[in-house]
Amino acid sequence: MEINRQFKLEVLNDYEAMSNAAADQIIELLHHKPNAIICIAGGDTPVGLMNNLVEAYRQNKVSFNKCRFIQLDEWVGLDSNDKGSCYDYLNTYLFDPLRIPEENIYSFDAKASNLLGECRKMDEYLNEEKGIDLIVLGIGQNGHLGFNEPGEDPAKNCHIVELDEITKQVGEKYFEDGASVPLSKGITLGLKQILEAEKTVLIASGEAKASIVKEFWYGEVSRRNPASLLKTHGNCSVMIDYAASSGL
Ligand code: F6R
Repeated sequence: MEINRQFKLEVLNDYEAMSNAAADQIIELLHHKPNAIICIAGGDTPVGLMNNLVEAYRQNKVSFNKCRFIQLDEWVGLDSNDKGSCYDYLNTYLFDPLRIPEENIYSFDAKASNLLGECRKMDEYLNEEKGIDLIVLGIGQNGHLGFNEPGEDPAKNCHIVELDEITKQVGEKYFEDGASVPLSKGITLGLKQILEAEKTVLIASGEAKASIVKEFWYGEVSRRNPASLLKTHGNCSVMIDYAASSGL
């Protein structure tokens, strides 16, 4: 697969600068498309960006009245009430402070008995809405995007995933109280839907990401490193902080 020349890498001084730059992408989009469909990963990396969005909203620099959010992924068996779930991150740092009405949030029920039904509902929603305007992704230490683990088929829509060992190990950081959390499966948007987004933004911060960022940057485009597929996307910005760039 060919690397698209629109692909852009920015190394920002620190986490704050990276978060600011990524938040600006969303604010800019909302200025020209107020009803945009936005997808932001859960997890630690986007917290600063979400804080920036809330700050911009409080200063009346942007309105979130009309935009819609869709969920990228979730641990199977968890929902919004579970501390550390993907939804919990989005709700705590974004939806709640921005007072986003429920009807403007399209999420998975990862506790549903019919998980495949949840996947098909999300597929239908995205089909009807003609896809995502902007997606902000984190990168797993194994290169995963959402819960699309190494080796994943890039042609898939939403699906249920057996989580990679690295994802399970690293994922324990979200559940500090040691509560026994079933970290074995995930529900996720597929790579097809991610790569069909109008604009993709990949963010990475800290030493722990330096090695996968290096692999992403110098390595070939391959399903072994799902993030590398972004290099074929026509409108992708990669924003990393200095610490995450130490292998470049
Ligand atoms: C979470 C998600 C994951 C994370 C990735 C990085 O919703 O989609 O792909 O973005 O595992 O996680 P952090 O940001 O916690 O390092």
